[in-house]
Amino acid sequence: MWGGRKLSSSGSRVLGMLGSGFRSTQAAGRLLASWAVYSENQLSWTLQIKPRLFSEYRAMWFESYRMIFPCLTRIKSYRSPWKKLYSTSQTTVDSKEVKTFLALAHKWWDEYGAYAPLHSMNDLRIPFIRDNLLKTVANHQPGKPLSAMKILDVGCGGGLLTEPLGRLGASVMGIDPVDENIKIARHHKSFDPVLDKRIEYRVCSVEEIVEETAETFDAVIASEVVEHVIELETFIQCCCQVLKPGGSLFITTINKTQLSYALAIVFSEQIAGFVPKGTHMWEKFVSPEKLESILESNGLSVLTVAGMLYNPFSGYWHWSENNSLNYAAHAVRCMVQEHPGPAEFVLMGETELHGNASTSAGVREELKK
Ligand SMILES: C[S@@+](CC[C@H](N)C(=O)[O-])C[C@H]1O[C@@H](n2cnc3c(N)ncnc32)[C@H](O)[C@@H]1O
Repeated sequence: MWGGRKLSSSGSRVLGMLGSGFRSTQAAGRLLASWAVYSENQLSWTLQIKPRLFSEYRAMWFESYRMIFPCLTRIKSYRSPWKKLYSTSQTTVDSKEVKTFLALAHKWWDEYGAYAPLHSMNDLRIPFIRDNLLKTVANHQPGKPLSAMKILDVGCGGGLLTEPLGRLGASVMGIDPVDENIKIARHHKSFDPVLDKRIEYRVCSVEEIVEETAETFDAVIASEVVEHVIELETFIQCCCQVLKPGGSLFITTINKTQLSYALAIVFSEQIAGFVPKGTHMWEKFVSPEKLESILESNGLSVLTVAGMLYNPFSGYWHWSENNSLNYAAHAVRCMVQEHPGPAEFVLMGETELHGNASTSAGVREELKK
């Protein structure tokens, strides 16, 4: 019995032969199943088999086309990686994270609240960003040293870092996928008419603006963000694509170590309550080595990785040789050479670094000196 009806013996033989030839394909299974219902008398076989055979062959042809097409598309995308990126439909936004940040949105500007460590992190990260950027410009305006710069602050939250960068003279675009964060950020900057002109906030993720803003920014900043994204590689790839060649990417984040699990999650969230429970997921933390390899595979040269330590009792951060908890990284997008020659690098002045994605570690070390 098959499909509730008995097969005629010749019908079974034909099915057996066909079945052995196509056993491995799903289409064959469907073919055999649908034929079986016509197996009660010979007449129905004669009438039904030919048209069905034709249509099933057509179905199999489509099936193989469906399998081959993505392979061709993939081959094409290796030839034009930019196109692939621009049409990315992958999101880096984790809906669980959005809920967490939404619930805390009213706390952004409370210096003693949940975001107190981010307020005080400005003592380290603002000079880190400013001084590294100033190495790349010959002259700067006193009081507004970053005035010639266009900066993208990805995952800007309530604008704790965006605003000071605007005060240093930069034109800053702050983006965040949580609309409540952007409302708070817009409201806060509206108190300062100068910032109001220099800062633009948008509710979006970096992958949503990658096409529109390709090679636009002198610097991209993702501070305390990468540990909250999904699809980290896509996130980094998009950050790199919106940087001008020679532009700087700054990341601060949490290392993936046993110590970071014990301190950032068990102690800070579950025991002491310095940070709300569920703010961090250890699986999303990333080591400097992994981050460096993603950055380099996207054509960036990592110039600095520096450890940062937070004292929850004093509320202050300081730089440290130890990067097993928090760290800051600075990487530079290599200059694209139109006609790559035997020399991969051109050194211009003391601070300008140019290279391409195939930067060798040894040469890079030389350049860093
Ligand atoms: C810990 S906060 C850091 C805020 C800000 N960068 C600062 O340091 O003050 C993380 C921010 O990243 C945002 N975020 C989460 N996932 C993101 C993603 N995939 N793309 C961009 N921002 C994201 C959150 O909404 C949140 O505002």
